[in-house]
Amino acid sequence: MRKPIIAGNWKMNKTLSEAVAFVEEVKNNIPSTDKVDAAIGAPAVFLAPMVEAAKGSNLKLSAQNMYDKDSGAYTGEISPAMVADLGVTYVILGHSERREYFGESDAFINSKTKKAFEHGLTPIVCVGETLEEREGGKFEDVIKTQVEGGLADLSADQVKQLVIAYEPVWAIGTGKSADEADAQSSCKYVRDVVKGLYGEDVAAAVRIQYGGSVKPENIKEYMAQEDIDGALVGGASLEAASFLKLLEAI
Ligand code: G3H
Repeated sequence: MRKPIIAGNWKMNKTLSEAVAFVEEVKNNIPSTDKVDAAIGAPAVFLAPMVEAAKGSNLKLSAQNMYDKDSGAYTGEISPAMVADLGVTYVILGHSERREYFGESDAFINSKTKKAFEHGLTPIVCVGETLEEREGGKFEDVIKTQVEGGLADLSADQVKQLVIAYEPVWAIGTGKSADEADAQSSCKYVRDVVKGLYGEDVAAAVRIQYGGSVKPENIKEYMAQEDIDGALVGGASLEAASFLKLLEAI
């Protein structure tokens, strides 16, 4: 059985005091880690105080990005070692906004994924097609390329441990969520690609999240789907009450 994982992705939102207040508000109400893994992907500058505030609770923290080098002359970048040293658990890699606005390629995302493992971080590797690609009949090609590229040269054990977030770009922040049958068949396709690469056991173990306008009102329908093991949630993870409702729905 795959354990569900609900991760918020705050993107570039909140102030430090709001971030810490959020943790204080939710930390004693996060369900047991036997039942669900719960994490918030926060801006890097908030991670240290959020880890501190979350200590002793079931809330884990995630970075939203990192660089693929250990250290050096890379002005403005954050290394995997820095992120891991803070006590952060996950790192979101290859989000469609990073692909679109910062030109991230599958090879770069793959390099970061490998680095995350070197430093004991669990990668949440994002894949997803644009509306144009979907309408142009390119869904399968795009997803296959992203999954194969993002997971290239990883060991079977690593693939079992990581999380894949399937997020159709047209459903992100638009309020237009994919219907649950579409989300299920897309996540199943992602799992089939993993199966083709790493075999049945690995495909059965890897956790696949759906993301794109997930909210307390629709999360149950997604979680009822066989190949959906959780959600990567933007807007609806920003408020404490809403984040807790997402977890209560599991
Ligand atoms: O990483 C999260 C996704 O981009 C989804 O964002 O829930 O605001 O649509 P959203």
